[in-house]
Amino acid sequence: MSRESDPPAPVPPDDSSDTALTSDGKVAADDETSLDTSASPDADAEVELGVMRTFHPPKQVGAYRVLEEIGRGAMGTVYLAEQENPRRTVALKLVRRGRATPELLRRFEHEAQVLGRLHHAGIAQIYEAGATEGDLGERQPFFAMEYIEGDTLSRYASGAQLDVPARLELMAKICDAVAHAHQKGIIHRDLKPSNILVDAEGQPKVLDFGVARITDSDQQATMGTSMGQIIGTVAYMSPEQVGGPPDDLDTRSDV
Ligand SMILES: Nc1ncnc2c1ncn2[C@@H]1O[C@H](COP(=O)(O)OP(=O)(O)O)[C@@H](O)[C@H]1O
Ligand SMILES: [Mg+2]
Repeated sequence: MSRESDPPAPVPPDDSSDTALTSDGKVAADDETSLDTSASPDADAEVELGVMRTFHPPKQVGAYRVLEEIGRGAMGTVYLAEQENPRRTVALKLVRRGRATPELLRRFEHEAQVLGRLHHAGIAQIYEAGATEGDLGERQPFFAMEYIEGDTLSRYASGAQLDVPARLELMAKICDAVAHAHQKGIIHRDLKPSNILVDAEGQPKVLDFGVARITDSDQQATMGTSMGQIIGTVAYMSPEQVGGPPDDLDTRSDV
C-alpha cells in the first residue's frame, strides 16, 4: 500500500500540481509533503501569523483510537483509526489544525451531510460525524468513513500498467459512482486523480465531497455560493466553473 504521505513515488505530472481553490478564492495545495514536520514524523506543522506551530496527532477522537496519518489535502487530515464497537478500521477525517476558518468548518460539515446522502460501492461510505476538542480547546469537527486501502488513481494507473480495456472499465466504474451522486442531487466539482482511490480489487472510490454542490434549491441557499466565487481545482475544473455564474452549473460540470 502506498499513501499520500509516503516518500515521493513516481507520480504522473497531472497529480503533482493539485491545488484546490476555495470558495473565498484562496489557493490551497492539496498535497503538502514539503511542510517541515521534522519535530515528529506525524506532527502537523503549520505557520500561523508568522509563528511556526507544531500540532501532534490526536490519540483518541470520539469513539476512535487514532493509529496513523494516511492522507492530507487542502482541508483535512485523514487518519487510520480503530472503532471500538463494532470493532473495525475506519478512515477519520479532521479539519487540518490551524486552518479552521469558519468557511472551512462549514464546508467540512457540509461534506459529511453530502456523504450521508450517498450509498454506492464507488464512494467511501460515511459512518458517523461529530466534533472533538482540539489542542487549544477549539471545536474540531470530524467524520468517520469506510477505510479504503489503495492507491490514488494516478499511482494505481501507472503501477498496474492497465491496458486500454481495463482503463475503460475503471473509468466506467468511476462514472457509475459519479452518476449515483448526480442522481442524489450532488455535483462533486473537484474530480481529480488525488480524490479517487482504487482498492485492492480494482474498485475505484470517489472521495472528497468537500466542495460538492447540493442541487436542491433549499440546500443551495444554505451553502451560499455567491457570484464571483470559484470552487474547484484549476487544472481539472470545467470552463463554466471558472467563467459562469455558480447557479448555472449542473451535473455536466463533472463530466
Ligand atoms: N476513506 C479513505 N480511506 C483511505 N484514505 C483516504 C480516505 N479518505 C481520504 N483518504 C486519503 O486522504 C487524502 C486527503 O483526503 P481528502 O478527502 O481528499 O481531503 P481534502 O478535502 O483535504 O482534499 C486523500 O487523497 C487520500 O489519500
Ligand atoms: Mg482532496
